[in-house]
Amino acid sequence: MKTIIEPFRIKSLEPIKITDRAYRRAALENAGYNVFALRADDVMIDLLTDSGTSAMSAMQWSAVMMGDESYAGASSFYRFEAAVRHITGCKHIIPVHQGRAAEKILFSTMVKPGDVVPSNCHFDTTRANIEARGAEAVDLVIREGLDPRAKHPFKGNIDLERLEQFFATTPRSRVPLCMITVTNNTGGGQPVSMENIRGMSRLARKYGVPFYIDACRFAENAYFIKLREPGYGDKTPEQIAQEMFSLSDGCTMSAKKDAFANMGGWIGTNDDDLVQQLRNLLILTEGFPTYGGLAGRDLDAIAQGLKEVVDEQYLRYRIASTAYLGNGLLQRGIQIVEPPGGHAVYIDALSTLPHLKRHELPGQALACALYEYGGIRGCEIGTVMFGKKDAQGNDVYPAMELVRLAIPRRVYTQSHIDYVLEVCEEMMRERDSIGGMRIAWEPPALRHFTARFERR
Ligand code: F0G
Repeated sequence: MKTIIEPFRIKSLEPIKITDRAYRRAALENAGYNVFALRADDVMIDLLTDSGTSAMSAMQWSAVMMGDESYAGASSFYRFEAAVRHITGCKHIIPVHQGRAAEKILFSTMVKPGDVVPSNCHFDTTRANIEARGAEAVDLVIREGLDPRAKHPFKGNIDLERLEQFFATTPRSRVPLCMITVTNNTGGGQPVSMENIRGMSRLARKYGVPFYIDACRFAENAYFIKLREPGYGDKTPEQIAQEMFSLSDGCTMSAKKDAFANMGGWIGTNDDDLVQQLRNLLILTEGFPTYGGLAGRDLDAIAQGLKEVVDEQYLRYRIASTAYLGNGLLQRGIQIVEPPGGHAVYIDALSTLPHLKRHELPGQALACALYEYGGIRGCEIGTVMFGKKDAQGNDVYPAMELVRLAIPRRVYTQSHIDYVLEVCEEMMRERDSIGGMRIAWEPPALRHFTARFERR
């Protein structure tokens, strides 16, 4: 059969409020043209993030009822630990309340001022947590990874030549760890090949640098490897994931992504000394090491989610449904980061709104237009999120100006996505009338969350 159906049926539902354009114009104005400030009730199709927005399965809800809320040594922890260890092989597993808590604890322990941490691309909270330590986060993704039109099966790969050069020219004392993000969220949800992970692992060993995986979307990455990398077609996504982790010294994880949980995460490490320090800080900021800021029921939801996320039928549907949106946009003349990623489709705002200059914030303008035209909420990943000022006060623009449509797992059906495509088609017909934006107010850090904007 050619048709790939959603491999589940819906048992419990949330109604969607159907709004009109006048209503949405008013809501947008009230929100200061920042889609993060909209009320979720006023959004029809919420593609702001795939994080914490998954539909949990009946088996996960059943597991929730098994949650053991004991302060120490809860059976939920041991089920969680076994499920995480089965996939990652990590010797030590520390639960945390979400991915950035893992980053904060790991970097507070390992990273000091003046250090440099290379990655393919750091996610924004990863970068912010490294910079908060007074250190530098360096992105070394391959060149194709920065060109929306470049076709490459593994556009998330790190440039191993530049990485080796980096290792060879930076004193070891200043490189506390190196990381790879799978899939590469900031670079378009693009996968990293096993060959690349293996190459990075070899270099990290050669230069004595601990190698950590930012594992948020490890299952989607594993499935891309199965589809695209020679030699992996007959392996299961679980086996591929296990091989990926076996090449690393540890991982950080937000279970809000590829564990179908609404909250949670972990740090995995094989380092016996480091883990003691991590646990000390964990107790200070998250909680006792067998719950780490989570309820026992959350740990059980993660343990069950990890079993479901490596299911091949699920992953086949997941990757196909993201590609359906991406290819539909391309057919309507909307340039995306090609090929479509695992969890999201990234629209190239510069070619979609070619009449707007960079300082007119085309990504922000596009995110607002999607909401106004169809009640669709996406997220700008461009100048608002990553733009900077240089020492002279001039704007420094990031390489790409994107709007991300992230797809919550197991939440929307194909007709929801058909609606998104129809809205985009209508918006494209009227794109010349979409005006630019300017920032009216911004906070000192992570401005995209709370800044307010005006129409130019
Ligand atoms: N690393 C990656 C690659 C991420 O995508 C995220 C979160 C984190 C770390 C932090 O995890 O949110 O649990 O603290 N990404 C979400 C997103 C927010 O929308 O892409 P967290």
